[in-house]
Amino acid sequence: MSMARARVGVLISGSGSNLQALLDACAQADSPAEVACVVSNVATAFGLKRARKAGVAAVVLDHKAFGARADFERALGEELQKAGVEWVCLAGFMRLLSADFLAGFPGRVLNIHPALLPAFPGLHAQRQALERGVKIAGCTVHFVDAGTDTGPIIAQAAVPVLPGDDEESLSARILVEEHRLYPLALRLAVTGKVTLEGTRTRVDAQATVGELSLRSPGAP
Ligand code: GRF
Repeated sequence: MSMARARVGVLISGSGSNLQALLDACAQADSPAEVACVVSNVATAFGLKRARKAGVAAVVLDHKAFGARADFERALGEELQKAGVEWVCLAGFMRLLSADFLAGFPGRVLNIHPALLPAFPGLHAQRQALERGVKIAGCTVHFVDAGTDTGPIIAQAAVPVLPGDDEESLSARILVEEHRLYPLALRLAVTGKVTLEGTRTRVDAQATVGELSLRSPGAP
């Protein structure tokens, strides 16, 4: 007997390597989620090709073509609704979403950020981390609220900052963890194993304490 899979819409603006990780995870036979549609606000985003290659509907909605943010968000909401989307994953999506839009998917919008939040929210998180001289960097998957990278944290993964790192090398090391963490966090969310509790989340005691730990499997 198979359960209906949660229908997920993924919003992108660029390369879409996190989208790829989600597509790959959703291609597994036992995945509790499926990617129902991908929307990019940038027509040239490489992630659109990834979506189409995986046989997923990919739509461009250029925010610049809309007069006001509310109009863009209305169109976005309609696209997601058409695809029967219940959950939304932001994956390198470079627009902020209003509280109004988020109210359409209460507690069902996730984001990935390349820093150990609440440190280094906003743009160029890896550069911020290098400038501040931290020794441990990483990534965070969190529920989205109307702030910038402020929502309740679901999962985090850490990587070392090594001597000689630049933005590119650190970003690449973090990205490996992003690709592991996002599918995991999505699975926990759609199966109800992580739920919102005010400004925090509660993770089912049985669920993946190991998987959610600070170190990646196989780390020394
Ligand atoms: C990732 O580093 C993600 O954490 C951030 O934007 C980047 C998107 O990369 N929000 P990609 O498009 O998934 O390759």
